[in-house]
Amino acid sequence: MNDSSKDALAAVNALLRGRRTLKQALMDPERPVPAEVLAAMFENANQAPTHGLTEPWRFRVFAGESRSMLAAGLRELYEKTTPESDFRADKHAKLGETPLQAALVIAICLHRQDSGKIPEHEEIAAVACAVQNMHLTASAVGLGAKWSSPPVCFTPEMNAWLGLRPQDRCLGLFYVGWPREGVDFPESPRHPVAEKVTWR
Ligand SMILES: Cc1cc2nc3c(=O)[nH]c(=O)nc-3n(C[C@H](O)[C@H](O)[C@H](O)COP(=O)(O)O)c2cc1C
Repeated sequence: MNDSSKDALAAVNALLRGRRTLKQALMDPERPVPAEVLAAMFENANQAPTHGLTEPWRFRVFAGESRSMLAAGLRELYEKTTPESDFRADKHAKLGETPLQAALVIAICLHRQDSGKIPEHEEIAAVACAVQNMHLTASAVGLGAKWSSPPVCFTPEMNAWLGLRPQDRCLGLFYVGWPREGVDFPESPRHPVAEKVTWR
């Protein structure tokens, strides 16, 4: 390998291995995310691979005041969609608090192709690639992010609330914000990759 390949590999290793999920409670909701960073996050998401070039990712962004609208909406959806026997006051309360802990919250959505030619699992995979691109872009500048998947996201009521069609999907919420002062990104150890790779 030549020096420039070594440098490129070192840079990508550092970015990928340094990406960590940051809980929204550790984010500073007051510190704004620069427009330039957000634009790069979305543009890089848009570069994700996709079978058949369907580009199925869609993002609904809640920033500033609209986070309160999301918080109220999530609580209401939880009330509507949770059977009485499963209802938990702590979960209900949390749904109304978490959107206000981040600088912005992005609903991760999947826009289903009308033809349905590409299987849904491939479209979900493509959206996940887009989210990873967003997360890595955020990480590159020290911005925290977390993909969260509360069950309420996977209900028809959530689709209606977000203005999605019944065949589309909400795959979760992506919290974005700078780490609060003094907060370090957590460790997230992995089992050795050798356990997961088999050569035939
Ligand atoms: C599809 C998906 C859904 C996730 N949902 C949640 C969630 O509901 N709550 C949560 O705390 N973390 C959630 N996470 C984040 C994981 O907890 C996190 O990625 C994991 O702990 C590994 O940490 P790392 O991202 O720092 O490597 C989700 C991640 C993915 C990819």
